[in-house]
Amino acid sequence: MFKLNRRPRRLRRTAAIRDLVRETKLSPDDFVQPYFIVEGESVRNPIDSLPGQFQLSIDELIKDAEETFSLGIKAVILFGIPKDKDSTGSETWDDNGIIQRAAKALKTSIPELLVISDVCFCEYTDHGHCGVITENGELDNDATLLNLQKQVVSHAKAGVDIVAPSGMIDGMVGAIRTALDDEGYISTPILSYAAKFSSSFYGPFREAVDSSPQFGDRKAYQLDPANRREALKEVELDVEEGADIIMVKPALPYLDLIREVRERWDLPVAAYNVSGEYAMIKAASERGWLDGDAAMLESLISIKRAGAAIILTYFAKEAAKKIS
Ligand code: PBG
Repeated sequence: MFKLNRRPRRLRRTAAIRDLVRETKLSPDDFVQPYFIVEGESVRNPIDSLPGQFQLSIDELIKDAEETFSLGIKAVILFGIPKDKDSTGSETWDDNGIIQRAAKALKTSIPELLVISDVCFCEYTDHGHCGVITENGELDNDATLLNLQKQVVSHAKAGVDIVAPSGMIDGMVGAIRTALDDEGYISTPILSYAAKFSSSFYGPFREAVDSSPQFGDRKAYQLDPANRREALKEVELDVEEGADIIMVKPALPYLDLIREVRERWDLPVAAYNVSGEYAMIKAASERGWLDGDAAMLESLISIKRAGAAIILTYFAKEAAKKIS
């Protein structure tokens, strides 16, 4: 026998002792379930690249959200797929738009469920970019800010609890705060997609909502995956402009930034476990190459361990079932 002063394996011997010393635990109320909403009735279209996720009409959304809420998940984020697109995405500020109707219906049926709206234009514009496009094909930052202001006021009017701008438009958080405050929505928090990278992991999402850019890409507004300092600068600006919750997106390839943002700012940190991260695990587990449940829980734990208190994930319902 060696005389070892330290035997760390003592704390790993049995399941009971491992449970006792576990540092990070997942809970259903860590999760936010994303929903894709379409026009119509009784629509529940499976999304090929996101097995287990659907495009839902508002009536089906209510049923699904009731189940989500009953699993202990307290928040959902809504993405709208409009019937008609145009050059500015004007449906986003129509008080009768798809998100506005979905939010009203949800708040009526399940008042305690937190309704977060994704605030962007790419699903609503015929060119697929996240705002107004100038004649030379660039994103017009400040014209887009004006439309963002109209969009959030319309969302707040419809009962949305938290607005989540995702377009990486300069000044978006400040412009949104001003518009909400001017209209009396001083208590509506802003969850900013503060550090959002130009990522290949959004592929399945763009198929789900038909939002791929018709020309070019999003590199002129989303962050370069190589840039850590630039990401921190983006977070800093959003905090100065009044963001209440700051998000890093995607999650798994950017755990270093989740950790760093957690340490630098005393605001809740969210992370978006995006469509490609979900699809990879689903595809590998369908082939029997991975244990899907174990890989899901390990991914979610790693995101929480990195510092995210809030995790937007397509796994929300599955994970909630597993951990309860
Ligand atoms: C923009 C938006 C995107 C996602 C969330 N909000 C797509 C994009 O920037 O192209 C991606 C989410 C995911 O991949 O799960 N409205």
